[in-house]
Amino acid sequence: MEDRNAPIGVFDSGVGGISTLRTLAKSLPKENFIFYGDSANAPYGERPADQVYQLSVTAINQLRKQGIKALVIACNTATSAAKPQLISRYPDMPILGIEPALKQAVDAGKKHILVMATPLTISRPKYQNQAAKFKDQATIYSLPCPGLADRIELGTAGLPQISSLLDQLLAPYLGKPIDALVLGCTHYPFVKDIIAEKLGGQIEIYTGYDGIERYLEYQLRTKSLLRTENQKQTIQFMSSRDTPAELALYQDLFDHGIQR
Ligand code: DGL
Repeated sequence: MEDRNAPIGVFDSGVGGISTLRTLAKSLPKENFIFYGDSANAPYGERPADQVYQLSVTAINQLRKQGIKALVIACNTATSAAKPQLISRYPDMPILGIEPALKQAVDAGKKHILVMATPLTISRPKYQNQAAKFKDQATIYSLPCPGLADRIELGTAGLPQISSLLDQLLAPYLGKPIDALVLGCTHYPFVKDIIAEKLGGQIEIYTGYDGIERYLEYQLRTKSLLRTENQKQTIQFMSSRDTPAELALYQDLFDHGIQR
């Protein structure tokens, strides 16, 4: 297979990256994708950064065995813990990473911004520096959400637990005039309507992967890596929890999301 007709790898600690994959697959319909979810080791967001790096390497090596031409780290946690090291380790392919879209919310003039992310993402200097940089332009509430990604790993079956955990996490913010919600973990867009409903009011939601398809397209185009074959798009799922039930969950989340 010529490089340009190879698939694009999309990687996350688990099912979260499927929310990003949905956007990418729709926006780049001529490209093939292989998704790898490290569900056996999720959540990453409550592990030390060096472990997240090691786990990411193992997962990415699985995707590289499939001959991917580019990689999207559809995981804010892995991006914040390991992206520079991963770029140095794999200089032969474009690597893009999802990050909390705090800047987009500030640039849009939002004044009371709630950022939900994993404990590791929130604790990293990258996020902390960004939040400090924007503190004069907006009130930023940084909310680490331990336990939320693992409940979303259960898909629709996790809904009752997701709802009660969200009630606890969001309780301190209910009276605040929040006008923007930054979902700094790719698991959370699957429950964005539930979060928005609980917060109430007019809230703009930022997922961090808006625009990633344009950046990916640009990277592929400038490196002459856009697919030229004319066959139908294929999307393949791989998981470190390699059971038929897990792969069926991935497909279901890709097709339908979390159903209420
Ligand atoms: N989906 C991942 C993210 O965007 C992380 C969830 C986790 O494994 O903790 O940060």
